Amino acid sequence: MKVRVWDLPLRLFHWALAVCVTVSVVTGLIGGNAMQYHYWSGYCLIALLVFRLGWGVVGSRHARFASFVYGPRAIARYVRGDDPRPPHLRLGHNPLGSLSVIALLLVVTLQVVSGLFANDEIFNQGPLASTVSSRTSALFTFYHTTIGQPLIYVLVGLHVAAIAFYAVVKHQNLVRPMLTGDIDTVAGAPAARDTWGLRLLALLLLAAGGVLAWWISTLGSVGSY
Ligand code: HEM
Repeated sequence: MKVRVWDLPLRLFHWALAVCVTVSVVTGLIGGNAMQYHYWSGYCLIALLVFRLGWGVVGSRHARFASFVYGPRAIARYVRGDDPRPPHLRLGHNPLGSLSVIALLLVVTLQVVSGLFANDEIFNQGPLASTVSSRTSALFTFYHTTIGQPLIYVLVGLHVAAIAFYAVVKHQNLVRPMLTGDIDTVAGAPAARDTWGLRLLALLLLAAGGVLAWWISTLGSVGSY
């Protein structure tokens, strides 16, 4: 039987995140005039991450952080293949996958925050770069370009490789549920709530993130000095 596992806001968040991270990487590599789009996708990422943070608390069952933050023992058991949970309770992120989800959310957040304070001493600076000393801004820039950027490549690479591994080796299609929201499982599996009321709440969270991003953008100038 089909059970809703990912609510609509979470699915829209996921694909918007993938698009914005891709746009940010490509425009950052191109540089020059493309940096305007780099800033815009960064502001969109702020709105998305604020939404996700809130959704991790008030979102539907499998989107909540509490449902997918596992301890080392649960992760080790999962890796050994003796997950004690009955199959109908194994919905949502699995104990190992949850590590990559948390790492991705954390690293994208660090990348956005460091970008706000970064500057390349030639043409580009984040909106908050002038609020800190040039040494601090240089540290943020170092993180943004030398640590965070390759870290995102590695984590996204691992993420997509893991999805491909599940498809090819375990014959488990994880992408379809992230598109349709539903998973085929046994009776008795707890479904995620995906009501219009909850979707409205998601929109409010996203709007709050949008206001924060807009406010940050007014705090300093971006682009060429
Ligand atoms: C071709 C590209 C991608 C595909 C096919 C894909 C697929 C998926 C799938 C199937 C899941 C659910 C995993 C599960 O069942 O536990 C997922 C989750 C996730 N993906 Fe992707 N993904 C892609 C790109 C990205 C990118 C570029 C990012 C950005 C950093 C990203 C970040 C995430 C995050 C944070 C989650 C957890 C969703 C949440 O609970 O917030 N993904 N992805």
